[in-house]
Amino acid sequence: MNRSDTPRPRHRFLVTAGPTREPVDAIRFFTNRSSGRMGYSLARACVERGHDVTLITGPVAIKPPVGVEVVFVETALEMCAAVLDRVEGYNGLLMCAAVADYRPAEPHPGKRSKTPGDWILRLVRNPDILLEVDRLGYKGLRLGFAAEFGDPRERGRQKLEEKHLDLLAANDISRDELGMGAIQNAIWLMDRWGGSVAIGPADKGVVAMELVEHLEDAILRLAQDPK
Ligand code: CTP
Repeated sequence: MNRSDTPRPRHRFLVTAGPTREPVDAIRFFTNRSSGRMGYSLARACVERGHDVTLITGPVAIKPPVGVEVVFVETALEMCAAVLDRVEGYNGLLMCAAVADYRPAEPHPGKRSKTPGDWILRLVRNPDILLEVDRLGYKGLRLGFAAEFGDPRERGRQKLEEKHLDLLAANDISRDELGMGAIQNAIWLMDRWGGSVAIGPADKGVVAMELVEHLEDAILRLAQDPK
């Protein structure tokens, strides 16, 4: 029997996608350029490979793929709570979201009107969701993304180690046509065993399909070599 004849195990993946919005007042917020396309493509690819998917998404302009359970959130704190509440029930956490690292310390209640002079805002740190999941002692597969300006490999490997990840997809966001906000992506996929492979440049859907095959292999490998 060759590999393609072997029935594939069905996994449960928790996928995060899109940006977060950090309120300044009732109508204004900080956010970033994430379109959600990479995370949504990943969710779709997981479903196409026969897996169960819950997608936790920040606000985006695209439709969620058919066949996934969707949880809509806005802020990093909401995304963090949504992940921590659910993650134990999943074989893999795929953290594709571009989570804001900071939020305004004191969002103004209602709409803030102009006052004479400058408006100085203080930002406070948001929790790092991957580190919070690590703190829970989560045993499933953890995939992170790293968006870097220039060659992302060195910083990507560092993030993989600092956040105790199993896989990290690192991409260069210095080119407008690739990565954050773009249709295509090109990633270096690094693993906890020291391996690394280039995927793309290609449409995010194509990159996602290839990525899911690596996720399946990594879950098998983790079962043989637990953390
Ligand atoms: N991430 C997270 N929680 C945050 C910020 C990021 O879980 N508060 C996750 C992202 O979803 C991604 C990974 O961490 O999978 C790396 O995100 P990135 O923003 O590149 O990393 P940071 O640790 O925020 O590093 P930097 O200082 O370069 O922004």
